Amino acid sequence: MKIIRAKDYNDMSRKAANIISAQVILKPNSVLGLATGSSPIGIYQQLIKWYEKGDIDFSEVTTVNLDEYYGLSPEDEQSYHNFMYTNFFDHVNIPRDRINLPNGMETDEAKECARYDALLNSLGGVDMQLLGIGRNGHIGFNEPSDCYSKGTHCVELAESTIEANKRFFASADDVPRRAYSMGIHTIMAAKKVIVVASGEDKAWAIKESCFGPVTPHVPGSILQLHNDAIVIADEAALSLIDNI
Ligand code: GLP
Repeated sequence: MKIIRAKDYNDMSRKAANIISAQVILKPNSVLGLATGSSPIGIYQQLIKWYEKGDIDFSEVTTVNLDEYYGLSPEDEQSYHNFMYTNFFDHVNIPRDRINLPNGMETDEAKECARYDALLNSLGGVDMQLLGIGRNGHIGFNEPSDCYSKGTHCVELAESTIEANKRFFASADDVPRRAYSMGIHTIMAAKKVIVVASGEDKAWAIKESCFGPVTPHVPGSILQLHNDAIVIADEAALSLIDNI
């Protein structure tokens, strides 16, 4: 696991965007695993700027998103579909038929999980997976648990996640209790993983994920076993770690 120290959120975003940009230049038909949340927004903004300048071309890229709230339609403002189109897809040239997210409206969980896993398999896996990290160490919506999930599954969100994500909703009661998420095995199978974290409220999750025991109780800690995982964190997110 390589840890890169960034000065602040903007520096973290530019560094991560540089790595993603290099990936797309080196392999134009990359399968990019994408994430939602406040952490990647700056990355998407930077990539959009480079796309507008003509420095990066997404025309051969395929995307697979990590997760989607169960029960939210793509049109719902709080859905991750809507987040991704508003913050990224509407502004770059990724072909629409190569954009993939779990379908939050599918009530047949087994069917939706099988569909998403079959899709991931048919793409040959993910070349580069971008991840944020939850305050409790979750990645995607893989919440702390006694065991690791393998493929796509429908999760019960942890109370702390509902609390953390309520800022995007009218109230905590409006936050969906469940979500579809890519599994830990799928994330670990990505050829390269980039984790971004900014702010003091991520310091515990970053410290435990980078240096704590590898345990499903801190899902991000499994990344210590990945061959090519890069953590890009700002000073506040690294504040509980010495000498980085
Ligand atoms: C959400 C998402 C995660 C994300 C995390 C952190 O629950 N499912 O993919 O990494 O929260 O979000 P933020 O970047 O807003 O702190």
